[in-house]
Amino acid sequence: MKKLNVGLIGYGFMGRTHSNAFRKVNNFFDLEYKPVLRAICARSEDKAIDFADKWGYESVETDWRALIARKDIDLIDIATPNNSHAEIAIAAAKAGKMIMCEKPLSMDGPEGKKMVAAVEKAKVPNMVWYNYRRVPAVTLAKQLIDEGKLGKIFHYRAKFLQDWTISPELPQGGAGLWRLDAKVAGSGVTGDLLAHCIDTAVWLNGSIDKVNAMTETFIKERKHTETGKVQKVQIDDACAFLARFNNGSLATFESTRYARGHKALYTFEINGEKGSLAWDLHDLHRLQYFNYADEGRVRGWRNIHVTDGDQPYMKNWWVPGLQIGYEHTFVHQVADFIQGLSSGKPASPTFRDALETQYVCDAVLKSARTQKWEKVPKK
Ligand SMILES: NC(=O)c1ccc[n+]([C@@H]2O[C@H](COP(=O)([O-])OP(=O)(O)OC[C@H]3O[C@@H](n4cnc5c(N)ncnc54)[C@H](O)[C@@H]3O)[C@@H](O)[C@H]2O)c1
Repeated sequence: MKKLNVGLIGYGFMGRTHSNAFRKVNNFFDLEYKPVLRAICARSEDKAIDFADKWGYESVETDWRALIARKDIDLIDIATPNNSHAEIAIAAAKAGKMIMCEKPLSMDGPEGKKMVAAVEKAKVPNMVWYNYRRVPAVTLAKQLIDEGKLGKIFHYRAKFLQDWTISPELPQGGAGLWRLDAKVAGSGVTGDLLAHCIDTAVWLNGSIDKVNAMTETFIKERKHTETGKVQKVQIDDACAFLARFNNGSLATFESTRYARGHKALYTFEINGEKGSLAWDLHDLHRLQYFNYADEGRVRGWRNIHVTDGDQPYMKNWWVPGLQIGYEHTFVHQVADFIQGLSSGKPASPTFRDALETQYVCDAVLKSARTQKWEKVPKK
C-alpha cells in the first residue's frame, strides 16, 4: 500500500472524527493508499502532544505554516473554525498539498471562489467534509432518485434543529463558543447547520435557482468569552427559507438552535410523482420509502433498515441487520477520497461542488436582509 501522509490542523470535535477515520479506513476498505498520521498541528503544544499520544500522530506542530512547509506531508486536513479555512487551504494548495477541508468551505462565496481557484490552479486533489452524504441511507436515497424511482420531483423539505443556545447567560466567542461569533463563524445556523441541508439537497435534487429567507437573532447581546464585554450578537440564531430548484420543485428549509428538546434533528423529505423518501439523523440507518407503483392493498411507507451488503457501504462493515453510526460517515469519506485518487475521478464534494452551497448560503443571508427573493449565483 502507498502511504498517504496526513497533517491534521485542529484537534477538536472534527479533529477526532477525522483521526478516527484515517486510522480505521484500511481495516474496512481495500484501498491503494494507507493514511499515515504524520503530524497534528495545534497552537498549544501540550494539548497537541496529548492528542498525538492518544491518536497515534508521530509528531506535533504549533504553526500550520510549518506543517504545510514539511516535505513529509501529502495531505493537509483542515479541522479548524471557519475563518481559518481559506488562508490555510490557499497556502496548502500553493505548496502542492492535497486538501480535505471542513465545512462550510469558507466564510462566504467570494472567499470560497478564491479557494476553488487555488486548488484548481495547483491541480491538487481536494474535498470538503460534508459527511452526511455518506450515511448509507442518504447514499441509497441518492441512488433511488438518480434511477428515476421518484419520477418528477415536486417538493423538498429539510430541517436541522438544536436547542443549545437558549440561555441568555451563554457567552459568545472563544475556544468553545466560536460558533456564536460571526467574525469566526461567518454566520449562525445558516453556515453551520443549513449548509449541511443545502449540500445534501443540491446533491439529491440539483441546483437551487432562488431563495426567500427570514432570520432571527433571539438574544441580542452576549458577553464575549475572551474580553468579558457585553457585545451585540451578529449571528443568525434561526433561519427559515423557501427555495425554488432549477428542476421546478419547491422547497422549505428551517434551522434553529432554539428548538427546545432537539439536539441535532436533521431531517429531509423529497416527494416525486412516483414516490417519496424521508430520512432522519436520529434514526440514521433507516430510509423511509413510499412507492406509488406498489399494489394498492399493501401500498404504504416502507421502513428500510439500511444494513445489507447490497446497500451503500454496508458490505464493508458487519453482517446484515447490524447498523453503523455517525463516525462511519467520515470513514466512508476518506475511503471515497482515496478511491478518487486511485481512479483519477475525484470524489465529491470537491471545493467547487461545495462553493455552490456557499453561494446558496450567501443568497439566503442576503434575502433575509433585503426581504426579497434572491437568485443564487452560478458557481
Ligand atoms: N462535518 C460536520 O458534521 C461538522 C461538525 C462539526 C464541525 N464542523 C466544522 O469543523 C470545523 C471545526 O469545528 P469543531 O467543531 O471541530 O471545532 P472545535 O472548536 O471543536 O475545534 C477546533 C480546533 O481548531 C483549533 N484551532 C483554531 N485555530 C487554530 C489555528 N490557527 N491553528 C491550529 N489550530 C487551530 C482549536 O484549537 C481546536 O482544536 C468548523 O469549520 C466546523 O464548521 C463540521
